[in-house]
Parts: sequence; structure tokens; C-alpha cells
Amino acid sequence: MTAGRASAKAPSRFTWGVATSSYQVEGAAHEDGRGLSIWDTYSRLPGKIKNGDTGDVACDHYHRYREDVALMREFGVEAYRFSVAWPRILPEGRGAINEAGLAFYDRLIDAVIAAGIEPWLCLYHWDLPQSLQDKGGWTNRDCAQWFADYANVVAHRYGDRVKRFATFNEPSVFTLFGFCLGGQAPGIVDRSMLLRAIHHVNLGHGAAVDRLRASVKKASLGAIHNCQPCRPATEKPEDRVAAETLDAYWNLAFPDPQFRGVYPPAIAGLMTPHLKPDDFEHICRPVDWFGLNHYSPVYVVASNNNPLGLWFGSAPADVPRSTMGWPVEPDAFREILTTMHKRYGVPIYVTENGTAYADKPTPDGKVPDEPRISYLTAYTAAMFDAIATGVDVRGYFVWALLDNFEWSSGYSERFGLVYVDYPTQRRLPKESFRWFADQIKGHSALSVPTV
Ligand code: FCB
Repeated sequence: MTAGRASAKAPSRFTWGVATSSYQVEGAAHEDGRGLSIWDTYSRLPGKIKNGDTGDVACDHYHRYREDVALMREFGVEAYRFSVAWPRILPEGRGAINEAGLAFYDRLIDAVIAAGIEPWLCLYHWDLPQSLQDKGGWTNRDCAQWFADYANVVAHRYGDRVKRFATFNEPSVFTLFGFCLGGQAPGIVDRSMLLRAIHHVNLGHGAAVDRLRASVKKASLGAIHNCQPCRPATEKPEDRVAAETLDAYWNLAFPDPQFRGVYPPAIAGLMTPHLKPDDFEHICRPVDWFGLNHYSPVYVVASNNNPLGLWFGSAPADVPRSTMGWPVEPDAFREILTTMHKRYGVPIYVTENGTAYADKPTPDGKVPDEPRISYLTAYTAAMFDAIATGVDVRGYFVWALLDNFEWSSGYSERFGLVYVDYPTQRRLPKESFRWFADQIKGHSALSVPTV
């Protein structure tokens, strides 16, 4: 890694933010009328989540958001990306609206704005209402319309104050792992279910964009995609094919239809039975930016152990790894920013980047996390390199503000700029948060066009 290169230039009026998501931080899972989500159900299945953890309490952000907003303000954060829990707003997924749930996000949004921070609202970070899953969830074509109706409720309630909306977070991740590879809610392993879910999520995206556009003045809209170079783990031809297949599902299955009105060639034939005339017109709606999440490249091998014929291989032995086992290769970040810029040509916001390490507070309450600082330094430097060659990046969000419920890893992985001592819910800013504050200060005088 090349620590120390972060002195390169971010363009001015670049947005520096932090991110979280509802199920991972809110807790209060059974309060104020919230309905169940598929993650409440999935996290209770034996053996699915490390140590049997659930999001029931998480970081208790539902009650402690004021303290969390105060920390963002103290460290100079400019934008807060959070998600709304669909089952808090519509406990059954559709129909009756839960006023207490809406009121929570009123309080949160107002506190964020009062702190001089821009709210970035993501409609869907994986917590589908369980009642809709009981009707087939994303494998049911009607789910696209249910999602658009939910988007409409959110747009009407918050559109006077919130202008930045993302439809979905990482649709490739929650569809691939939730419907075919296993490991995430709702825990289905069936390729035809995956294909249906992909198409219905795309339809939901387009329908929600239309609703948001119709009711929010000056809305700035996008979707958030997880983008990672897919590399064959060996030189074997079958591994090369596996890497190309994964690239189609992982990197292209959502942006290609959303920006170009087609499915990528590697899966286009498989998608055909699920298409109706005009579907691409409904999916390919104008948006303002491309949300790009990136952590590492993926190494792929051919494998018979799942319906896609591929699995995750290992990075070369000399590549450093985070505690998640993810390879640390900043150059892959520069590469994927460049690839996506060339392919889609819209302004990019890096909506997630960060890393997990085994952080430990010292007795005096400091949390030294040099490996995270090195990671962030090297990755922001790679982003600046991309910008220097003409890639249009307008902002960068660290995942995450807080240590939180890391899906199947439960609370065992810590991604936060703030350490959370779960038994006491005490927050301890890590050294990396101070690094990030300096980074923001150092770049606050520069300027880029905004969308
Ligand atoms: C991303 C997810 C986010 C978090 C990070 C580590 O794939 O969007 O919720 O789990 O990974």
C-alpha cells in the first residue's frame, strides 16, 4: 500500500460523507410499530449468522441518532448516507402507513440538516418486509410496484428536505447471495429465482425513479452498485469463463439495463423468458449519478457447488487482506472507476469504501487503527489517480460511520470510523475518523460541478 499519497487533489465541492444502513445500525426492531423484515427472519435461522447475532439492538441508532449526528458534525462530515427501513414505514410492506416510523426519519433528517450535513436517503438496503417475502418478494413481478408505492410515500414525506435519493443498495449482492449463492436473506438457492429477482428489482428501480421525479422538486437520483473487477483465480480457461459470468451478474446486470436498456450478453438469453414488451423503457429512466461501492477485486473459480457454476477463489498469496479476508488492492479501485466511467458516462459518487480490522480501544479510550488509515489513504489516492485521468467522481463516502451488524458476520467485523462498545453502546471515535476529518478539511477549498 502507498500510505501518504492522499495529498493528491480531490476536485472542489467534492462531497465527503459516511454511510450506514437501517438494519445494520438502527436496532429498535420491535418498537413503534415496525414490521418484520426478511433479515429479522433470516438472522434467527440457526447457523446463518456468526454467534447467532441479530439486528434487534445493533447500534441503537434509533435512540442514539442525535449523538451520532453530533459526531459527524464534530468531524466535519458533509453528507450522511442512511437507508429507510421499509417495514418501519409500511409494516406489511403495503397498505397501512405507520406514522411512528415516518416520524423517526423526520427526526433523523431534521437533526442531520440542522448539523449542516446533507441527507442521502437510500430506499432499500436489503430489509424487505417479511409480509412481501411471504408473497414471493422479489421473485414476484408485483414487488416492483409495491416498491414504487413505498418510494412514493417516502418521496411525499421527505422530498421537501431530502433531494438525494438512491433506489437500491447493491442489487447484485442481495440478489446473488439471497437467491442463488446462499448466505443472505431470504436464503433461496435457485437460478431461475435469481433471474426473476434481478428483473423485478430493475423494474422496481425504474418505477421508483419515476415516482421520485414526479414528486420531489430538484431531486438528484441514482442507484448504488457494488463494482469489483472479477479476475480468474488461475489461468485455466474454465476459471476465465467463470470470471466473465460473475462479471455479468455482479457488475453489469443492473447498470446495463438501467443505463443502456439491455442485459449484458452473458445473461441476455437467460433473461428473455422474464421480459415483457416495453420493460426496458420502464427500467432505463434518466438518473443523475452512478453510486459505486467498492472494497476489493474478486477472484473467481469454476465450481459445481452452485447453480451458477462458479465460486470465490483466493487472491495471490502476497496480497494483504482485511479481517473479512478481502484483498487490499487499491489499483483495482482505480481500474473499476475507470471502467464504469467509460461504460456509463455519468458522474460517479463513491457511495461506500472502507475496511474491517480487529480494532481494540486502549485503556484511555483511544482506538488506534493504522491499518484502516493506510487502506483509506491508498484507496483515496487511487480515486484521485482516476480523477486525474478524467474519471468524473463527485464524492466519497466511508463505510461506515459506526461499527455495526455486518450481515452473516454479525458484530464480529468492525468497519466503523467510530468504535461501538456494544454492551454499553459507548461510541469511541477511531484514529481513522481524525484522519478523515483532516482529509475533508484539506480538500474543502476545491471545486467540482454538482449534480
Ligand atoms: C457492502 C454493503 C454494506 C456493508 C459493506 C461492508 O456490500 O452494502 O451493507 O455490509 O458491504
